[in-house]
Amino acid sequence: MQADSPDLAAAQRAHWQRTYDAHPAMYGQEPSAPARYAAAAFRAAGARDVLELGAGHGRDALHFAREGFAVRAADFSASGLAQLRRTAVAQGLAERVTCLAHDVRTPLPLPDSSADGVFAHMLLCMALSTAEIHTVVDEVRHVLRPGGTFVYTVRHTGDAHYGSGLVHGDDIYEHDGFAVHFFPRRLVDALADGWQLEEVHAFEEGDLPRRLWRVTQRLPQ
Ligand SMILES: C[S@@+](CC[C@H](N)C(=O)[O-])C[C@H]1O[C@@H](n2cnc3c(N)ncnc32)[C@H](O)[C@@H]1O
Repeated sequence: MQADSPDLAAAQRAHWQRTYDAHPAMYGQEPSAPARYAAAAFRAAGARDVLELGAGHGRDALHFAREGFAVRAADFSASGLAQLRRTAVAQGLAERVTCLAHDVRTPLPLPDSSADGVFAHMLLCMALSTAEIHTVVDEVRHVLRPGGTFVYTVRHTGDAHYGSGLVHGDDIYEHDGFAVHFFPRRLVDALADGWQLEEVHAFEEGDLPRRLWRVTQRLPQ
């Protein structure tokens, strides 16, 4: 079915707010597999300052903090960030975590070269157009220092939900109120233009299962 949604991202923001309010800590408190991988990759690269985009209620941001990184955790859901902040305080990690209420469709309010590593688990495949996704990656390029590492994950066109549900165009389909931009491989390659593309790793998460790629790309020195 074709959707009629003039501001899809605004509707998605409200949906994520309601979802985090109704299901606190919905992703659990254990870090995701990509976050464990990213923490090791950031450490190997000598990183200290990590930026997470689409941090949600913080299962991964808190892992980075426990691993000793200084973390800026950004999301457009104030409810998710409030849960993250409460858990950080409860676990004695508050000094290492800064929360940033931010919609990635707008410029990142951070200085150039201020992050050693950037992580985004299932953020770029949210309700963003192809043009907006390119803009987000350009923003990441600005805030990452030369030689810095960007690890992101996205659901891709091999996912069971690709091509079904509510149709928004531009490879975006909506299921149960959640709109997802399913990535074709050519988009991953286009986003790596001007970067060193180190790895595209296929993996699965959850019960569906969601089918994702974990992408590691590095800025030239
Ligand atoms: C699939 S969830 C993943 C959350 C977290 N990365 C995790 O794996 O636990 C996607 C997250 O992206 C956030 N998000 C979606 N669109 C966004 C946007 N335009 N700007 C900032 N955050 C956004 C949602 O609020 C949600 O927390």
